[in-house]
Order: sequence, then C-alpha cells, then structure tokens
Amino acid sequence: MTSRPETEQDAVTNAATPEVVANSNKRKVFVRTYGCQMNVYDSERMTDVLAPEGFEATGDLEDADLVILNTCHIREKAAEKVYSELGRIRKVKEARAKAGKDMMVGVAGCVAQAEGEEISRRAPIVDMVVGPQSYHQLPALLEKVRSGKKVVETEFDIDAKFDQLSARAARPVSKRPSAAFLTVQEGCDKFCTFCVVPYTRGAEVSRSVSQIVTEAEQMAASGVREVTLLGQNVNAYHGEAEDGATWGLGRLLRRLAEIDGLDRLRYTTSHPRDMDDDLIEAHRELKSLMPYLHLPVQSGSDKILKAMNRRHTRDEYFRLLDRIREASPDIALSGDFIVGFPGETDQDFEDTLDLIRRVEYGSAFSFKYSQRPGTPGATMDAQVPEDVKSERLAVLQALLSEQQKAFNASRKGMVCDVLLEKAGRNPGQLVGKSPWLQPVQLDAPIDLIGSIQAVEIVDIGSNSLFGRLNAGQDSDDQSVAIPTPAA
Ligand code: SAH
Ligand code: SF4
Ligand code: F3S
Repeated sequence: MTSRPETEQDAVTNAATPEVVANSNKRKVFVRTYGCQMNVYDSERMTDVLAPEGFEATGDLEDADLVILNTCHIREKAAEKVYSELGRIRKVKEARAKAGKDMMVGVAGCVAQAEGEEISRRAPIVDMVVGPQSYHQLPALLEKVRSGKKVVETEFDIDAKFDQLSARAARPVSKRPSAAFLTVQEGCDKFCTFCVVPYTRGAEVSRSVSQIVTEAEQMAASGVREVTLLGQNVNAYHGEAEDGATWGLGRLLRRLAEIDGLDRLRYTTSHPRDMDDDLIEAHRELKSLMPYLHLPVQSGSDKILKAMNRRHTRDEYFRLLDRIREASPDIALSGDFIVGFPGETDQDFEDTLDLIRRVEYGSAFSFKYSQRPGTPGATMDAQVPEDVKSERLAVLQALLSEQQKAFNASRKGMVCDVLLEKAGRNPGQLVGKSPWLQPVQLDAPIDLIGSIQAVEIVDIGSNSLFGRLNAGQDSDDQSVAIPTPAA
C-alpha cells in the first residue's frame, strides 16, 4: 500500500531493493510491484521466500534470471499495464537468450488470480502464474518450471500461506527500512459492486495475534520504527489470541504498542462499517497510533452508496467522523472516491462534492469508475460516458487538491515529530514522514536516518513539507507526535 502509495493505487514501485555483492554467484530476481500496499508487502515476502533458494534481488531487468510481475487488477488500466510490460520483457529475454542466458518469467498478484492460464496464452513468455495466496509455494513451482512445465497456481489458502512463510530474511544494515508494512488481514467479504478484490483475494481471513506479534518483534529488532498494518479491510480484523479469544484491531494495536522500538503504528485500509468504539478509543489512548486515517467513502450520494453496496449512508459517515474527531481532534482524514459509477447523475456528483466540503480531507485518492469483468457494476444500466467521468474527476480532484494544500499549510510553524527514512534528492538532505503521513524534506546529517526528530515545519510544497531540525529537541526518547505551535 510504498508507504501509502504516493500517487495512486496503480502506481508502479520497484520493491526489490538491489543488493550489490561483488563476484556474487547468486541468481538474481527482479520483482516489479503494481497496485496497493499489500502487493508491496507480498513482493518483499516473495524475495524472502526466494532467498534460501539462492536468489538475491536486483533492480536491473537485464541481469535477472527470474522476473516476477506482482500485478493489480483493480482498474482496467492497471491490468493492461502488465501486458505491455510483458512485451518489453520478451525483448530482454530474447537478448539474454542470444548471450546464452536463461530468464524465467512469473506473473503474480491479482491479475494472476483473475486471469489464470489466460495470461500465458496471451503472453507465451510467461512460465509461471501464481496467485496472491500461493506465493509461499514459489520454490516448488520454480522446480516445475525448470523441468520444462508451465505452471498455474491460484488456490486460495491464506492460512497455509502465512503458516508456511519463513521468518523475514535478514537485510544488511544499510538496507534496513525504518518503516515497513505488515499484513494482518486479507481478503474481503463486502462485495462492493464495483470491486474485484473479493474475487482476487478471496474471503476475509485474519492472522493470529501471536503470528503478528512475532513478525512485528522481528521488524522492531531489525530497526523498524513504524509499522503499518495492512488489510483490504484492516479494521474488520478479528484474529485469534493465545487465550482463544478473538481480538479486534483496537486490541491488537494496544498489544503492538507494547513492543520496544515500535514508536509508530498505522493501519490501512478501513471500511466505515467496521470502525468500532474500541478502535476509536485506541486513537485517543495510544500515543504511538499516528493521527491519520484512510477511511474511503467512494461517493456522497445515498443512492450511489446503496448501488455500490457500501452498506452505510452519508449521514452515518458524518456521524462516524464526528466520533473519530472527538477522540483524535488532530487526525488527518483520507479517502477514496469513484466518479461515474453507473447511474451517477449531476446531482449525485454534487452530493459527493458537498460531502468532501463538509469533511475537509487531508489527502485523498480518486478514480474514474472502471468496468471490471465479473462484478455486478459492469453490467448495470446507465453506464456514465467517459467524457463525463473525466470532467467530474477533474472537478473533484481540484477540490481535493485545494483541501490537501490547506491541510498542509495548516502545519506551517508547527513543531512535530518526523521519522527520518532516507536520503533526499540533494546532498545533505533527508526525507521523512510527519505524523499525518506527509513527506517532510529537511537538511540533516545522514546518520540521523532511522531516528525520530522534532522538526519545525518552515514551508509547504505541493506534495511535501519543508522542515528544519528543531535544535535542542530530540524526540527520539519521547516518541510523541503532538504538534505544538513554534515559539
Ligand atoms: N477496501 C478498500 C478499497 C480497496 S480498492 C475500501 O473498501 O475502501 C482501492 C480503491 O480503488 C477503492 O477504494 C476504490 O476507490 C478504487 N476502486 C476499486 N474498484 C474500482 C473500479 N472498478 N473503478 C474505479 N475505482 C475502483
Ligand atoms: Fe473492494 Fe469493497 Fe472490499 Fe473495499 S470493501 S476491498 S472496495 S469489495
Ligand atoms: Fe490491486 Fe489486488 Fe491490491 S487488485 S489494489 S493489488 S488487492
């Protein structure tokens, strides 16, 4: 879900961190990640699974013995990207073959699940199709490929996947991230009428508390300071604890907050229907739970919400936000919006704009409705013409961008905690994250990467904030994220 994908959910990230090892005889795997944060997590776990097989990650396609595209099926454009990328890979594979080098090609993720063997029919260079619940079997599948077989594995068995995934592979100190994702829940039972996720990720399954705590402790021990819990419906989490009780997300967060070194917790993506009192209280209680909430509403029209099968009204959403803001007044709200769902009239669209004006989002993602095969929305009457969708999207994005700018501007002059994550573009510059998930750029020594510092926000860019180390205040021991007006 990247930290929250900086642009939109079909953003492409090259999740594999290239590791340069002199004279290495290891085989190389190139993983390209499309889609949401869960795919980013899955890509990391795939490289973990492949490490004992002698594979190390490379960022160089030409150098790869194995290529894996970890794909997204959410919108048509996202799915089509895969086939154009496979065209490019075919040329690289042919060039390698001329030099006597082999290249295996795998398609993983949600397109793999949705299209199965159709993929290798359309793109014969694909040796292996592996769904998001099957990648723990990669070593055995590769064995089959090596023996000359084409492989398609799209069974749903989330429990088996998490039981069989090995511990996270150790990463060299220089490559250890200070922020990371952790999948706690997967799949979805909601069946919104526009969405493929219940079909590509299967039914909702929560991991056990002990499995999650163990993984979070491993992360903390390797220097991770901020963990973002992931789920397609993360706040529907209902995992089994050691005493046999079922814990919700609020309780899980309280347990994770006890882990030494985990100073920041986040979770995404939440459904309004699953935002219970205990989770809202956790926002009031837990200092380490960051004041940011991604709570998609999709539309502000009751008629469209009903047609989408979202199972709540706009009023219920407003009342929920009142309760959340009462518990955490400073929280930054984020959302997802779809324009041009079948039957959406100008008035329905106006209702969405009105909802946005009332909520005042800190950031948001918005999309034109895309007809997805097999979903009820695809065959509904009154599909909205493409040019109307484009017009509405432009209007909606202009409003959201105004709100994002206003939210960013409201941080100017504040001193807040920033987790310094990586080097910036210019020498001497680092980039970090504010409590509200905004990127913060500032001048700071490189050895501060991985630390949490008090930073004064001195200026605002279009997508990021500019800060200055607040001399004399080192937040590292305090792990607080409370903004105070600068003196
Ligand atoms: N579980 C999350 C969303 C996961 S999909 C939720 O319930 O909100 C991420 C986002 O992609 C959705 O919130 C929605 O805004 C968008 N999306 C999903 N299907 C889409 C479609 N068919 N067309 C356009 N956008 C879509
Ligand atoms: Fe898709 Fe709806 Fe499930 Fe979100 S809640 S993943 S939008 S079906
Ligand atoms: Fe895409 Fe699958 Fe995520 S469809 S958004 S990669 S769950």
